[in-house]
Amino acid sequence: MGVQPLSLAQHYHERTKYAPETLAQQAAPLDFSRQPSPFKTYPFGPSFSLKPFLEPDQRAAHPHWQRLSQLLYCTYGITGVVPYPDQPFYMRAAPSAGGLYPAEIYLLTRSDTAIPAGIYNYQVKDHALVQVWQSYSWSALQAACLWHPALERTHIALIVTAVFYRSAWRYGDRAYRRICLDIGHLLGNVALAANINDFRAHFIGGFVDAQMNELLYLDPEQEGVLAVVALANLLEVGENLSTFPSVLASATCYDYGAIASGELLKAYHRASALTNSDIIYSMAKVEETSAQEPTESPASKYNFPFGLRVSLSKTIIHWETNLAALQQTILQRRSTRQYSGQGIEVDQLAALLTFAYHPQDYRDQGLDEAPSFFDPTLVETFIAVTRVKDLEEGCYYYAVAEHELRQIRFKNFQEQLHFLCLHQDLGRDAAVVIFHTANLERAIARYGERAYRYLHMDAGHLGQRINLAATALGLGVSGIGGFFDDQVNDLLGIPPQEAVLYITTVGKAA
Ligand SMILES: Cc1cc2nc3c(=O)[nH]c(=O)nc-3n(C[C@H](O)[C@H](O)[C@H](O)COP(=O)(O)O)c2cc1C
Repeated sequence: MGVQPLSLAQHYHERTKYAPETLAQQAAPLDFSRQPSPFKTYPFGPSFSLKPFLEPDQRAAHPHWQRLSQLLYCTYGITGVVPYPDQPFYMRAAPSAGGLYPAEIYLLTRSDTAIPAGIYNYQVKDHALVQVWQSYSWSALQAACLWHPALERTHIALIVTAVFYRSAWRYGDRAYRRICLDIGHLLGNVALAANINDFRAHFIGGFVDAQMNELLYLDPEQEGVLAVVALANLLEVGENLSTFPSVLASATCYDYGAIASGELLKAYHRASALTNSDIIYSMAKVEETSAQEPTESPASKYNFPFGLRVSLSKTIIHWETNLAALQQTILQRRSTRQYSGQGIEVDQLAALLTFAYHPQDYRDQGLDEAPSFFDPTLVETFIAVTRVKDLEEGCYYYAVAEHELRQIRFKNFQEQLHFLCLHQDLGRDAAVVIFHTANLERAIARYGERAYRYLHMDAGHLGQRINLAATALGLGVSGIGGFFDDQVNDLLGIPPQEAVLYITTVGKAA
């Protein structure tokens, strides 16, 4: 029997795994003389400061600008400054692996909004919009997004890109994973900040990459579009839209030949592009593969007759009137640098999971009951518990619909967690370590090469919701993008085709 060839996404995943025996080679010393700036500058083009609109008294006079200003600030604005002597380090509302901030945000407006039509770049450090192109047509955006229905009635869109080298400078080819996770965190903020400001974010992951690059005049060797967000203004009746699918499938690439190290990230990004000719094929593929997929019911997953099952309570965080506490939480969030090693309560864990996975329970607080994701049904959640009061130590599968933890391994794994998080103390001292995984084969069968983008952005999005819930509960939290992949599978006892996407640690901060 022949061996099934690996698609490029699978090849990329295998090649970028960290392993104890190769980590030393993979972690080459950093060349600080080539360190990229995390900010894009535009010498030309009118600039519109958004700072005045952060003041509450601007709400009445300039409601549209005020809402947009708040939304962008809560998404990616500067929320902390470390005053290093040579150069201050600016931290943003969204976390970023290594603090490298590869994402850029562009804003596109249609001719009939309060904001002059054009393409703008969000200048994070100044909290300003610089108009980079005045003459463009919204229909070019619609065409590039294959006439996605959310763009028909909306008047504002965000385009999130990645400047690859900002992250690749440090993480090499593995950077693509962290870039997509970073953007997922950012999208998590967009979805919530949109709700706070009476917008709804419709994510679009299916677009013709080359057309998007042309629209923004990007150099595709340096920068690529990862997500488009149509922002529906909920104060306009006509923009209260139903939800639409966010994704399309690309082709799957098996014939990629030898790819040199350092070239793999871009080669994979190129191969996951959608072209116009993919589209008809793509629609058929999604339908066909969904029909063919084994219908394993999530209700039966890891549902062993004698295993421990813990039914969690739906524990709700109250975000106060107008979601004021949510906004404050977004702006206050920081990644914890050290845990105290103390435990957390089981209700705190239940609250984290309720906020991350059960948005419908937040509908009456004004949050979207079904926020945009790419395809979260592909993402699984496992939790290693080391210090949760009244919860047995071990590894659990989290059954989302049942809001239930199902124990799959017994004992305290804190030393193994320390090791597989590349000896980072965060893994050892956290109260819980949350793993997001996905069956890569199945995801690729559904979405081709593009699946890898969607999976990592969805995992980052879930990670951001966990970050915010933890912050609101007074807990410490940090993402972990560097881990020994295969050793996580060993710890959880999950098959090799289950790819580990991301780790989030939660505990009591020191
Ligand atoms: C995808 C991702 C991976 C990360 N991986 C690690 C990690 O392995 N170790 C760590 O200490 N922090 C990690 N972080 C946290 C970042 O270092 C942190 O977000 C960044 O320094 C900015 O600080 P802030 O989150 O407090 O704004 C990660 C964050 C993200 C979003």
